[in-house]
Amino acid sequence: MGADVDGGTDGRGGAGVKADGGAGAALAVEAVSVSFGGIHALSDVSFEVPRGQVCGVIGPNGAGKTTLFDVVSGLRRPTSGSVRVAGRDVTAVPAVRRARAGLRRTFQRTQVFGRLTVADNVLAAMEWRGGGGGLLADLTGWPSRRGRERDRRRRVEEVLSLCGLTELRDAYAASLPVGQRRLVELARALADDPSLLLLDEPTSGLDADQTARLGEVVRSLDTTTLLVEHDMGFVMDVCDRLVVLDLGKVIATGVPAEIRGDPAVRAAYLG
Ligand SMILES: Nc1ncnc2c1ncn2[C@@H]1O[C@H](COP(=O)(O)OP(=O)(O)OP(=O)(O)O)[C@@H](O)[C@H]1O
Ligand SMILES: [Mg+2]
Repeated sequence: MGADVDGGTDGRGGAGVKADGGAGAALAVEAVSVSFGGIHALSDVSFEVPRGQVCGVIGPNGAGKTTLFDVVSGLRRPTSGSVRVAGRDVTAVPAVRRARAGLRRTFQRTQVFGRLTVADNVLAAMEWRGGGGGLLADLTGWPSRRGRERDRRRRVEEVLSLCGLTELRDAYAASLPVGQRRLVELARALADDPSLLLLDEPTSGLDADQTARLGEVVRSLDTTTLLVEHDMGFVMDVCDRLVVLDLGKVIATGVPAEIRGDPAVRAAYLG
């Protein structure tokens, strides 16, 4: 199931399929450093996320979490080091092409189309991904295109249901409170089966019920996920592994239970 995500979508399946073959990491961050003048926002950061796992990135303010997200999503080139997605070195690949290859990111400040309905927001995310066959297909109405359209509509309803948004499908996104807009953004990110999902503070603005729902959704996905989050209860619940940053350095990695008891982590948070 995962193989057709990497292989089938960007039309250059070869590399993805090959890298997919083994137990290779879905995401590998290798010795990444980022400096802003004299500030070392990230220093020699390395970690891997195995396919299908949820990895949380935590750390005190200024630890480098957002900078790390920017590097993984391609918004910022690291000063040194590299990023591999499904075995492929994407360090020099611009953000928009990483997105086309199946990387999806949600933002701390939600980005949805306020003047579209919830359902159309999700549909638009799929349209953007393309694959429609172009103008000729539009004019000739290829049966395959109509079939694809049906599949898309079905997928939209599936994703809406997954995110608990079915009843809001016809509401304008702008009319929703921030918690629900965040779920719409998640639905958009999930619409076309991303191969790698980055969630930036996904629980911010959500109430307890929505947070619990989000946790269930994230847990239920096969998608490799990297998330930055301040809500420790959520992180400990949802993540398979954690990477702890402090002052740009990885100070601990491990399963939540290990991290909870780690003296260096406690010191970083208390200190
Ligand atoms: N564009 C920039 N120019 C200069 N310094 C920056 C820039 N972006 C980040 N920094 C610095 O890099 C360090 C890491 O910042 P970053 O925003 O990645 O931390 P963070 O872990 O996301 O923090 P927070 O939890 O407050 O969001 C901080 O010292 C920050 O001041
Ligand atoms: Mg940040």
